[in-house]
Amino acid sequence: MSGDLSMFLCHILNCVITTSLNTILVTGGAGFIGSNFVMEWLQTTDSAAVNLDLLTYAGNRGNLASVDGKSKHIFVQGDVCDAELVGSLLQKHRPCAIVHFAAESHVDRSIIAPDAFLRTNIQGTFVLLDQAKKYWSGLNEADRARFRFLHVSTDEVYGTLGQDDPAFCETTPYAPNSPYAASKAASDHMVRAYQHTFGLPTLTTNCSNNYGPFQFPEKLIPLMILNALEGKPLPVYGDGKNVRDWLYVADHCSAIRAVLSHGAIGETYNIGGNSERANIDVVTTICDLVDELRPDPSAKPRRRLITYVEDRPGHDRRYAIDATKISRELDWKPAEKFESGLRKTVRWYLENSAWIESVRTGAYRDWIAQNYAERVEI
Ligand code: NAD
Ligand code: TYD
Repeated sequence: MSGDLSMFLCHILNCVITTSLNTILVTGGAGFIGSNFVMEWLQTTDSAAVNLDLLTYAGNRGNLASVDGKSKHIFVQGDVCDAELVGSLLQKHRPCAIVHFAAESHVDRSIIAPDAFLRTNIQGTFVLLDQAKKYWSGLNEADRARFRFLHVSTDEVYGTLGQDDPAFCETTPYAPNSPYAASKAASDHMVRAYQHTFGLPTLTTNCSNNYGPFQFPEKLIPLMILNALEGKPLPVYGDGKNVRDWLYVADHCSAIRAVLSHGAIGETYNIGGNSERANIDVVTTICDLVDELRPDPSAKPRRRLITYVEDRPGHDRRYAIDATKISRELDWKPAEKFESGLRKTVRWYLENSAWIESVRTGAYRDWIAQNYAERVEI
């Protein structure tokens, strides 16, 4: 082969490789937020998504039924801690980005059994970063410049706020209080270190509490909807006055999209819904929505089911997010108001009883028994 011809073929090959990097690798894409993200991604872009998920108790293929069979969705059941698997997926699919959702995510479980949180959230993030670094180092210049590692994290890394404290901003010092929050904080620091030390093009998002379709019914909002529907007690921890900022899941996904496409390398972005609510107010609103949309046959209000129970140990009092940076720099703001998002969510749970039954396995029932049986009424 002449030198000119081989140079020409090399150039063509380079172009093909450069333009082929449209795929993204999503971790934890069978969980609550990850599945919402993957579905939206596949519906709104031409790019493929490789979805690496271990399918723990929180991961469910049923969340992805609407994209099952689409050639652009490549589902791989596997562990983010498995370096060989992660490395081989990167080499095989050559993604232009990694969006890292996979985690153990429930604070109450992290209090009862923290080990899995250290493994998945810390070790798993390290494995992904390290494999991403190897893969990214071997890319050509254009693809290296385009590659992003987006780490999805939480506002809980900042600790707790007093009633009159200013909301968390990106420079608020880390002060995690639960094993979950500490494991996410450690993973955030490792992401920062890989950017600072090796130049890996990372982005980090710290978001407030999400709610919406496909949330596993161990978290406050879906648990209360299902218990209210079934006439079971609604277990409110402590005095019910702990405050969370709530964001509809589709808004979290749109924020992640904005950060992925326009975020500045190495930066962190706080994401929130401007919807601070005390837990007891969330629960009473759910009771009223369920009464309206599925009236109790006895016409008794669901509020009667509210039961104050023993508090969560170390329960953070208040979270609030200052989302000025993402709003100013990336022109993002939430589309959904809390009341309209909650109404949509209650409707979704009313209309998806098959999904609910499919996730409430024996392991789910064991968890509910373990977490609530010994929590005395106060
Ligand atoms: P989730 O618990 O619903 O889903 C987690 C997913 O990760 C599941 O599909 C599970 O199977 C998978 N997974 C767990 N361990 C794995 C492993 N070792 N390898 C591969 N996959 C594994 O969680 P979520 O609520 O969707 O949260 C997703 C991410 O967003 C997490 O990183 C969480 O910290 C963060 N976050 C969540 C919220 C929230 O309110 N839910 C708020 C802010 C940030
Ligand atoms: P949760 O949904 O577990 O999210 P996080 O702990 O990450 O904020 O809980 C939201 C709030 O609701 C938190 O203050 C704890 C409280 N809570 C209850 O009062 N009762 C419950 O049964 C649960 C699961 C949570």
